[in-house]
Amino acid sequence: MIDASVLTISDFVKLLFWCFGAPFLISLVFSLMFWIFLRFRVISFTYGLNLMNTIIDRVVGYSIFWSLSILGLILLTMAAFWILGILTLASISFNVFVTFLLYCAIVVIPSLTYYFVMEQGFNALKKRGVLDLKDWDYVKGGKLYRWPDATYKYLKRKKWYNDFLLNTKDVASHIYKLSNVVFVSPSANKGRIEEKLYDLFPKKFDFILMDYSQNIEGKAITKSNGKFTYVDGSYDGNNLKSNLAKLGMCSSDIIMDIRGCIWYSTDKDDDTGEGVTRVFREYHKSLKVGGVIIIDAVQLKSKTITRNQIFYKGMNLVLGFQEISTYQKIQGFIDNNDFIDKHFHTEIVGEGSNRLAIFKKIS
Ligand SMILES: C[S@@+](CC[C@H](N)C(=O)[O-])C[C@H]1O[C@@H](n2cnc3c(N)ncnc32)[C@H](O)[C@@H]1O
Repeated sequence: MIDASVLTISDFVKLLFWCFGAPFLISLVFSLMFWIFLRFRVISFTYGLNLMNTIIDRVVGYSIFWSLSILGLILLTMAAFWILGILTLASISFNVFVTFLLYCAIVVIPSLTYYFVMEQGFNALKKRGVLDLKDWDYVKGGKLYRWPDATYKYLKRKKWYNDFLLNTKDVASHIYKLSNVVFVSPSANKGRIEEKLYDLFPKKFDFILMDYSQNIEGKAITKSNGKFTYVDGSYDGNNLKSNLAKLGMCSSDIIMDIRGCIWYSTDKDDDTGEGVTRVFREYHKSLKVGGVIIIDAVQLKSKTITRNQIFYKGMNLVLGFQEISTYQKIQGFIDNNDFIDKHFHTEIVGEGSNRLAIFKKIS
């Protein structure tokens, strides 16, 4: 343990350098080299690099969460000893605090440096069309590989599936009366939600699942009765009409897009929301009149999202959603959107986590 009372200024500066400066510099050089190699295609992004990226991401979450929690506890203990006048123990706690702070910096500082450099780096690579992590995030070893399973369990706790059936039946009762219904999920990922809905729904529904990411391990299996099909390959929801044509279908009755293609169709650089309108145009072409697009519409405050992220990243606990809903993400672009206003009637149904936005095609 470091005894802070006997440290000279130069000892302290040396310690700061070895625990903060050197890890920062090493990680900075590593991240920049990594980015340059990817940018100039000296190396390609592989399964191993994807896994490394995921591991570092987890290390950032765990190390920050536990370091801050433990440092906070040590500080509280130190304050308690100091208030009680037990100065020897207060000074020992101070030494524990300094020692722990320096040693956790050795893990936190480099992982955090990598995280910030590569956050910017990956965005730049995406803009240049060099690398799209959406492809990589959801495959085995990717950062979001476990996301659908965690969400599936959370939605089950919230009775999301039963509410989905009741609420959509209410708003789109005309569809449930049809003799045959085509239910398309263009960004199904593992298809957990769809599997559950398939179990609950009447068997006259034909479920068609697709996704842009291929090689998603553990995804739902196509059923031999022809009522539940997960189409193999990479299918971009932006081309849904031609994707359906490849399956011999010209249109659908329900398109369910939960935190998928529409969610990804816009980002902070999109000022006009043209990405959102583009997907709506495509879905419009792929729907019968009277058909509906269903998206998730829970209203989340940023402090709730931050709390949920902290608990998930630090303790692997799913307290709720860790990102805003599709509706929240696109709301600014769909209010007063000429195309959507002209062709869809919008209704919001359900409460809390189970809130949905339903766009019914009227022309
Ligand atoms: C967060 S997951 C959601 C998956 C699923 N809807 C769910 O709720 O479990 C997002 C999925 O959207 C897919 N995706 C993103 N953009 C897409 C696009 N343009 N076309 C099809 N799929 C897309 C990703 O590949 C990923 O599997």
